[in-house]
Amino acid sequence: MSDIFTQVQSAQTALDAETPATAEALEQFRIRYLGSKGLIKSLMEEMRTVPNERKREFGQLVNALKQGAETKFQEAKTVLEAQAEQASAQAFDLTAPGEPLPIGARHPIAITMNRIIEIFGRIGFAVADGPEIEHDWYNFTAMNTPEDHPARDMQDTFYVVDAPGMLLRTHTSNVQARVMTTRKPPIRIIAPGRVYRNETISARSHAQFHQVEGLYIDEGVSFADMKQTLLYFAQEMFGAPKIRLRPSFFPFTEPSAEMDVWLGTDTEENYRLTKGTGWLEILGCGMVDPQVLENCGIDSRQYSGFAFGMGIERQALRLFNIPDIRLLFENDVRMLRQFAAAV
Ligand code: DAH
Repeated sequence: MSDIFTQVQSAQTALDAETPATAEALEQFRIRYLGSKGLIKSLMEEMRTVPNERKREFGQLVNALKQGAETKFQEAKTVLEAQAEQASAQAFDLTAPGEPLPIGARHPIAITMNRIIEIFGRIGFAVADGPEIEHDWYNFTAMNTPEDHPARDMQDTFYVVDAPGMLLRTHTSNVQARVMTTRKPPIRIIAPGRVYRNETISARSHAQFHQVEGLYIDEGVSFADMKQTLLYFAQEMFGAPKIRLRPSFFPFTEPSAEMDVWLGTDTEENYRLTKGTGWLEILGCGMVDPQVLENCGIDSRQYSGFAFGMGIERQALRLFNIPDIRLLFENDVRMLRQFAAAV
C-alpha cells in the first residue's frame, strides 16, 4: 500500500528535476506523464487499490502531480517556441535592408546629349524630334541638296529597298525641315538624335553616330546672334575661353562656318584630341539659306535664322576621356558601368 504512495512521491521528485530542453524531449515528457498510457493515468487507475480513508489524500497527491506536469509542460513549450521564433528571425531578418537591385548607368552618349540639351534649354531652346528613317525630301531636297547635287556624295547613306525615296537620315538637319514645315517662327529648337552614313568603321568614324541640331528663326536674327549663342555653349560645355569660326560650305547655310573650341595642348588628352593644334572641331553652322526657308514655306524676306549641327561622339570622348569611338558602340557593360555615377 505504502508502495503506491512511494511511487507518487518518486514521480513528483523526478518531475521536479526535469526540464525538457528540446521539442522531442518535450513530447517524450508529455507522453510519459500526461499521455493516455502515461504515469498519471496509471496512478489514477491505482486509486481503487487505495483504502477509502486514504483515497482523498492519494487523489490530492496525484492531482498535484498532474498539475505540476501540465504547468511544466506549458512552461517548457513557451520557452521552446520563443527559442524557435528567435532562431528563424535570425535566419530571415525582416528588418534587414533588401538586396540591392543594380539600376544600370546612362550611356556616355546620352549623358553628353543631356548636358547639351540642358545648356541650350537655359537659353530658350526646346527639344524637337524627327524620324531616323526619313524621306529623301526632308533629309536632302528641302535642305537645298537636290538629287544631282555633289554634296550628296559626301553623305552616302543606307536606302530602304522596298520604299523608294526612304533612307536612313544622314544628319539631324532633317528636323529643321520637319519643324519649319509645321510651325511658325519664332522657332528655337535643338534636335538630338542618331544619324547614319555609309562609312567604314574605324577608331575615328562609325556608320552610325549622334548629332544635335540647332535652329533659330525669327525676324532680324544675325550672324552675331549665332556667334554669341555658340560661344555661350562652348564656355558652358567645355569651359573653353574662346571659339574659332572657319569659313566652310554647307548647302543649307549661307554663309557657312565650322566651329572649333579652344582646349589648348596643356594635357596629353587635349594634345591627342586636337592633333596638337589646341583646337577641337565640334560643329558646322551658318545662316539658314533663304532657299531653305522658302522650301519649307517660310517667307525669307521677313525671317532669317541660324542653324548648327554638332557631333556628339567626339564631345563624349573628350568629356570622359575615352580613347576609341568604337567603345561607345560595343556596349560592353564593364566599360559602361564606369559611368553609373555620372548624370
Ligand atoms: N548637317 C551637317 C552635317 O551633318 C552639319 C550642319 C552644318 C548642320 C551646318 C547645320 C548647319 O544645321 O547649319 O555635317
